[in-house]
Amino acid sequence: MGVGEILGFDEAGEGPLLVLIHGFPLDRWMWVGQFEGLKDIRRVVAVDLPGRGRSLAISAKEATMDAYADHVATTIVALGTLQADVVGLSMGGYVAFALWRRHPHLVRSLILADTRAGPDSEEGKAARGLNADKVWAEGTVALVEGMLPKLLSPSARHEVVMQVLPMFEDTPALTAIADLIAMRDRPDSTPTLATITVPTLIVRGADDALMGPEEVALLARGISAAQTVTIPDAGHLSPLENPEAFNAAARAFLGDFLP
Ligand code: MLT
Repeated sequence: MGVGEILGFDEAGEGPLLVLIHGFPLDRWMWVGQFEGLKDIRRVVAVDLPGRGRSLAISAKEATMDAYADHVATTIVALGTLQADVVGLSMGGYVAFALWRRHPHLVRSLILADTRAGPDSEEGKAARGLNADKVWAEGTVALVEGMLPKLLSPSARHEVVMQVLPMFEDTPALTAIADLIAMRDRPDSTPTLATITVPTLIVRGADDALMGPEEVALLARGISAAQTVTIPDAGHLSPLENPEAFNAAARAFLGDFLP
């Protein structure tokens, strides 16, 4: 994939553009509940970051949060609109920070879901390398055992588990490795927070085992125009686990500044 190419996506609805950026090691399917729930107020576009689903592959050397953000920016422009409401979950949030730094004029508002501003700790960086080795040897499914219990709440419905597993299976090993390296090497977005001037909603699943309430507090302290909401009965993948509550929060937020 070259610099700033159009990503593959699915879309539904009409109106102002709402771009959904998925987490790791997932794809556009994680937003299945947002198509139905938000398509009457927005043109909902869920992208596949490079190397999965409908998007072309990227080499691990080229994969950075900045490169991912540039592809999202090109996609927004190609969709024929000047600005988008941008939703990023977890890794998608890291991409959203990069999008804001590099292409702020394209961002009308932000929904930062189950994500954090800070970089990986030294321990976290080392774990990225170990996970990359594991994926290289056994494929992306090798991450299921360690990650799945952290992505979903203990009470997650079987149906939700069955939505998540195929995304692990369908993410090519080289893509997962590229993501892991790109996440490990991502910059600290904490200094970015004070620069965010657009309306921002910070969302966290009440049972998110990966992003604690302290991450929300840090985001809320740093972003002046931020509201926060907790999604009950949901873990890290709050839009997938409790789409009703997630969509209700998104609708209330997006409805505040309908054009
Ligand atoms: C994600 O859900 O995108 C990842 O868990 C984020 C991360 O590993 O930092």
